[in-house]
Amino acid sequence: MSRNILAVTGSPRVNGYSSFLADEVIKKLRAGGNHVELISLRETEIRPCSACDSCRKDGSDFCVIDDDMKPLYRKVAQSGAILLASPVYWFSIAAQMKLFIDRLYGLNTEESKILQDKKFGIILSYGDDDPVGSGVINAIRSYEDMFRYTKSDLCRIIHKTEQPERTLTSALEKDIEVMAEALSS
Ligand SMILES: Cc1cc2nc3c(=O)[nH]c(=O)nc-3n(C[C@H](O)[C@H](O)[C@H](O)COP(=O)(O)O)c2cc1C
Repeated sequence: MSRNILAVTGSPRVNGYSSFLADEVIKKLRAGGNHVELISLRETEIRPCSACDSCRKDGSDFCVIDDDMKPLYRKVAQSGAILLASPVYWFSIAAQMKLFIDRLYGLNTEESKILQDKKFGIILSYGDDDPVGSGVINAIRSYEDMFRYTKSDLCRIIHKTEQPERTLTSALEKDIEVMAEALSS
């Protein structure tokens, strides 16, 4: 089955490791006949949620803030699956990605449950050799809680210490293949 898949990367670095891993998943997805659109948050201006609750009022169009998030609401809504790739910053999800997630508030209202049953794959990279020391556990826990709340399908997580070379071990290659399979099935 081929799907429309949205990939969102949160790294501010041009050759970020989390983006490298996301690119590898995207390559696999495209090779499998899926349509993948990549959004790099580095190239967007997205403001924080202002908690105005307009998205919870009648006739709202997801969010009243007029910024680069506007077109992303429809892209998220129309995607069969979503890949989120981000670094760990300060023992949690990097702010760039967290801000994007905060703004999804308007997709999870009483009237619209757009995130419900939506598939999510997560990529996280960090500098520490030890995953426990890196704080990735907090980031994973946040994603688990979020997607439990929205009743989304958190189908796969890849987390990895950043490597100096942008190359794949056979174990990582397998993880990427499994992630692509999970997002496209
Ligand atoms: C502001 C900042 C905070 C960071 N905090 C952590 C951290 O808490 N734990 C960790 O293991 N690495 C931390 N790092 C290292 C990054 O997570 C690591 O370099 C990661 O692979 C970057 O991903 P990217 O290459 O996709 O941007 C931090 C880096 C920066 C710039």
